[in-house]
Amino acid sequence: MSNFALEVDNLTKVYERQGQSPVRAVDGISFSVPRGEIFGLLGPNGAGKTTLLKVLATLLRPTSGAARIEGFDVVTRPLEVRRQISMVLQETAAELFLSVRDNLLTFARFHGLPAAEARRRAGIVMEKFQIATHADQKVQDLSGGSRRRVQVSKVFMVETPVVFLDEFSTGMDPILKRAVMGYLREESAKGRTIVLTTQILNEAEELCDDILIMNRGRQVARGDLNALKLLSAGVYEIVLTFDRLPETIAEDMARLGPLRSHIDDNTIEIALKVEEAQVLDIVSALSKKGRVLRVEVSGASLEDIFVELTKEA
Ligand SMILES: Nc1ncnc2c1ncn2[C@@H]1O[C@H](COP(=O)(O)OP(=O)(O)OP(=O)(O)O)[C@@H](O)[C@H]1O
Ligand SMILES: [Mg+2]
Repeated sequence: MSNFALEVDNLTKVYERQGQSPVRAVDGISFSVPRGEIFGLLGPNGAGKTTLLKVLATLLRPTSGAARIEGFDVVTRPLEVRRQISMVLQETAAELFLSVRDNLLTFARFHGLPAAEARRRAGIVMEKFQIATHADQKVQDLSGGSRRRVQVSKVFMVETPVVFLDEFSTGMDPILKRAVMGYLREESAKGRTIVLTTQILNEAEELCDDILIMNRGRQVARGDLNALKLLSAGVYEIVLTFDRLPETIAEDMARLGPLRSHIDDNTIEIALKVEEAQVLDIVSALSKKGRVLRVEVSGASLEDIFVELTKEA
């Protein structure tokens, strides 16, 4: 058996549309994911992330190419593939007419868990996701954030080798999100392979062992965070805090042609692609605009890399 939980080979998915040109939503993507890894799919809206996950989950048939999940081909062995995975898709609905507890129990039974074990786990999982107080409420009566908790909590009911999460943290408050990120790390430490999509870059930065950035169905970059940072060597982030914000600072910043800039109270943040030698000149020129209380210069964040790699040519 191969060491890879996922093997994706030149995968393509084209949506045919009546009276309009077809959309190549996934356009020749290849990657493999070793067991126990957390793999992140990143990309702007419409990049093809959800489509790719749906093909891997056998919900859509690929147009060409191949993919195997735990060695099972998604086209020829879809039933075996489904037994390997649990997933939360962007638009997954929980079973609205069932209670929170019954949602979890039904899901566990579908994956073959004995009833007593399912009940035991449901108790633990509901505590973890802070939905125990809603156990007997119908999901349709819950807030959006709580519904999302129910959806995501399901993957912790079972031990499928592979987990797909499409923007799992949408609608979760920051405290729960942080806890769930910890739970995901625990699952991966146990050997489960997790493939997630996200728009929230520091989420990917913190969680993922390996990241694939896609745009318009194609890979634009791939690697762990260090590799991605090297790709955009020459991107610097400068943060300056003034005692009072200099009047013309917004124009001064714009003139530098930044990848990103932001002003918050007396603090300016600016990301630039420049030669290392220029950074100091820029910092000192900006510093002369007022009285500076704090200076910080750092390398690229994942967000800078993302903007740099996916911006329109
Ligand atoms: N059922 C469909 N029929 C036709 N085109 C579709 C269909 N579903 C998605 N698309 C198109 O395929 C492309 C990829 O969409 P997809 O939903 O996979 O992107 P995404 O990366 O998940 O975006 P988001 O970040 O907004 O969730 C988009 O151009 C989208 O409009
Ligand atoms: Mg999507």
